[in-house]
Amino acid sequence: MQNQQILLIQRPIGTPGPESWSYITSVAAEPSENEVLIKTAYLSIDPAMRGWMNDSKSYIKPVELGQVMRALGIGEVIKSNSSYFKVGDWVSASVGVQQYAVLPEKEVSKIDVSGFEAPAYLGTLGMSGLTAYFGILDTGAPVSGETVVVSGAAGAVGSVVGQIAKIKGCKVIGIAGGKDKCDYVVNELGFDACIDYKEGSLRKNLKEVCPDGVDVYFDNVGGDILDTLLTLINKKARIVICGAISQYNATALQGPKNYLSLLVNRAKMEGIVVFDNYKRYPEAIEQMKIWIKEGKLNANYQVEEGGVAGFPAVLDALFAGKNTGKLVLKID
Ligand SMILES: NC(=O)c1ccc[n+]([C@@H]2O[C@H](COP(=O)([O-])OP(=O)(O)OC[C@H]3O[C@@H](n4cnc5c(N)ncnc54)[C@H](OP(=O)(O)O)[C@@H]3O)[C@@H](O)[C@H]2O)c1
Repeated sequence: MQNQQILLIQRPIGTPGPESWSYITSVAAEPSENEVLIKTAYLSIDPAMRGWMNDSKSYIKPVELGQVMRALGIGEVIKSNSSYFKVGDWVSASVGVQQYAVLPEKEVSKIDVSGFEAPAYLGTLGMSGLTAYFGILDTGAPVSGETVVVSGAAGAVGSVVGQIAKIKGCKVIGIAGGKDKCDYVVNELGFDACIDYKEGSLRKNLKEVCPDGVDVYFDNVGGDILDTLLTLINKKARIVICGAISQYNATALQGPKNYLSLLVNRAKMEGIVVFDNYKRYPEAIEQMKIWIKEGKLNANYQVEEGGVAGFPAVLDALFAGKNTGKLVLKID
């Protein structure tokens, strides 16, 4: 059986170009004992992929040159040498950018696609939603009546963060690129307001909608937006450092200039990594399923066609902000 794959062959400096990738076809491997063969249905397209391409220390090892590009995905078990999985099971795993993946059973999780559309398990019911859930509830710790601001508000993580903060009774302000995304965040996701960071003065516009200051800022983007928020926080504010997409393709990192605001406001800024919460994933997924069924949480995602060969273009589209909700690539 032929297996289309994308390999990482060159580490990019700045924005990845076509020279980073090799598109090949090889023969799909066979599963050994306690392994399964998965046919990939959808891949999760994540900003973190850019970091995985760098040869630098992080929370996870870099992708080796010449290896299949790392990607989370969902698909169907088509051969099983595991007593735990049977042919036809739907699963999620780090399958890589390829049509077929052989993985040990301990690296694979079953998903129940009967009540929810499969791509939701890469978004709200997958890593993005779990990041949002633990990041906002445990680290942001929003209290009813507080003002919560979230950047990347129309994206996979940000859209869930804001909706959970609304469920918790907060005033929620999004930041997103462009009028259409801001309209979506307010009209479809129920945020109280959304500021287009590409238009006008972000600080002035945020001050207008946050007259009582900001109690929680959930940061997905870093850079100038983080610096602006540091000037608007209240005493005892919490800043959740979830990501910094504005910096991932930068050749010189821009650190926060206004960090002394943390001192003045006795505020805290804390980084989070979703994987630290893996033991509590089932509890979070159950809660989010309830919110989806109750109509309180919109599990939004955007499916792009193109298969394995379409991966580089879809990754570019993520950094260009062409997605609303979780961006997934259809493989099968
Ligand atoms: N810590 C963790 O465990 C963890 C886990 C998952 C994700 N993350 C992080 O969470 C953040 C959001 O990830 P996601 O998967 O939800 O992606 P996403 O928000 O669905 O997509 C990325 C969005 O970033 C925005 N963007 C791109 N360049 C930007 C720039 N220069 N300045 C401001 N915004 C920019 C674009 O939206 P606009 O059109 O609005 O600009 C784009 O749609 C990322 O930083 C990611 O690394 C962290």
